Amino acid sequence: MADEQHGGVSAAEWWKQAVVYQIYPRSFKDANGDGLGDIPGVTKQMGYLEALGVDAIWLSPFYPSNLADGGYDVIDYRNVDPRLGMLEDFDEMVRAAHASGIKVIVDIVPNHTSDCHVMFQEALAAGPGSPERDRYIFRPGRGEAGELPPNDWQSSFGGPAWERVADGEWYLHLFAKEQPDLNWKNPEVHEEFKKTLRFWSDRGVDGFRVDVAHALVKDLESRPLDEFPADAVSAPLDTSGSNPLWDRPEVHQIYREWREVFNEYEPPRFAVGEAWVHPDHQYLYASPEELGQVFNFEFAKANWCAADFHRAIEEGLASAERSGSTTTWVMSNHDVVRHASRYGLPQVAARAHHQIATDWVLRDGASYIEDRAVGERRARAAILMELALPGSVYIYQGEELGLFEVADIPWDRLEDPQAVNTSGARQIKGRDGCRVPLPWCAGDLPEPASWNANFGDGATGTFGFADRTEGAPAPAAPHLPQPLWFEDFAVDREEADPASMLALYRGALQLRARELTATGDTGLTWLEDITPEAQADKVVAFGRPAASGGTILCVTNFGETAVPVPEGEVLLSSIPLENGVLPRDATVWVRA
Ligand code: GLC
Repeated sequence: MADEQHGGVSAAEWWKQAVVYQIYPRSFKDANGDGLGDIPGVTKQMGYLEALGVDAIWLSPFYPSNLADGGYDVIDYRNVDPRLGMLEDFDEMVRAAHASGIKVIVDIVPNHTSDCHVMFQEALAAGPGSPERDRYIFRPGRGEAGELPPNDWQSSFGGPAWERVADGEWYLHLFAKEQPDLNWKNPEVHEEFKKTLRFWSDRGVDGFRVDVAHALVKDLESRPLDEFPADAVSAPLDTSGSNPLWDRPEVHQIYREWREVFNEYEPPRFAVGEAWVHPDHQYLYASPEELGQVFNFEFAKANWCAADFHRAIEEGLASAERSGSTTTWVMSNHDVVRHASRYGLPQVAARAHHQIATDWVLRDGASYIEDRAVGERRARAAILMELALPGSVYIYQGEELGLFEVADIPWDRLEDPQAVNTSGARQIKGRDGCRVPLPWCAGDLPEPASWNANFGDGATGTFGFADRTEGAPAPAAPHLPQPLWFEDFAVDREEADPASMLALYRGALQLRARELTATGDTGLTWLEDITPEAQADKVVAFGRPAASGGTILCVTNFGETAVPVPEGEVLLSSIPLENGVLPRDATVWVRA
């Protein structure tokens, strides 16, 4: 079993060039009509995922949670949120996925728990100085009566990073106050998480996505707390190892321990770290002795220009070579503005446009004009470029439909702590605009207010409810409102349209699996001479060996003027091509 070969790839290394589809469970598919997506909803859409052609699904947290941070505030790591199903539903989903040839990756959130986790409740009850309290990061306050926080650190979601409890101590939370940070210097914390990794591995899970993997170990001892830089949480990351909170060298010992757990299984379990560290440090997390892979977020940060993407690809490949792993490519996830919108916003100096996108959401979508035609065209070009690259591709639910950010969710409907915890001029809308439930079926459009694009199937509130039947009560409204324009992006509409984004994704995924992944080759050759010199900085062009012989050339034109399509057989293009040229904002795959 261990070395069973699929094309040129051994079974144990399935993840090295996998296409992984990220599911944000509460917004994927609602099988019981209560307005929240659920685990049976994932099982139900397994056919859709199989037809899309993905190798794996990664589920963002589906554990019991108070949803202070979209489920990243976990109350019980070894259970399913009862609103999303039961453990049996999870097992059924894993069976269905495996039967469809799809691996399952779950999200592990080790930096913090929910404040309702039993360990935190025990820590509160046991009081200062107790072993229970030592599992978290409690400190006395400053000021005469300890009434001031231990220092001025601000949490990632706004407001102080310290919260005071009834007996006067303060605890650290780098994220929401409902997310107290764990103390990874305590051996019991290590045991707790190894137990969780085994729990899910024993249930057949194939891998893990590790949340804020670079945060776990903190240096809070090398100097008095109030002498650390006040901006430590938001300071730009370097490779010096001097930030007390992020990317500490000691964090790697944890992942070496986890690797031992992963290797208890056959094939070994896989992990991918979410580590927003300096690109020169990513490779450390991806080492085969540690997680195996790490997210490379340079695509998600890149401006729509050849130089940014060229550099991101070079950095990703170099980092993979250094770690002895493969790299990952990510344009969107549940934390960033959808890329179809980003690419339709004004493109400014390299890498600053991430800020533009954030500002755009911050200002209710009103400050800049989103050009959807441009955004869609570029998103089509971008996915063909991404899928031609060696390494793993992470697709975020809904990008295959070409969804744009929903930037105008009313303030009172927002759920993200970024929106809830910020105020005044600093208030931002946060990340809900990319977390709106998927539109499955355009159907007959009833009252706009009640339209829910068939996200939910029936309003019974119980699981196992079949498709909505005639006369059944209408499902509850989705937890985040779907805009009317979602109708144009509904799965059934796109399935019926051979020119849709969904059709493009399906075709490209098939071709990638057959011609590129199957070779097991992770090399890439830049094609510097593909265009006249004047165009060189406007084009990203590379070649990779094709399984059926020859080379597949992938060319993306970021420039204003058309470039020649290389000689050979055109296999796929992001838009229809005429006269042998590749116009602006388009990608072509050619077999040469
Ligand atoms: C990660 C998650 C994000 C969450 C944060 C705190 O960055 O992707 O959604 O808010 O960690 O857990």
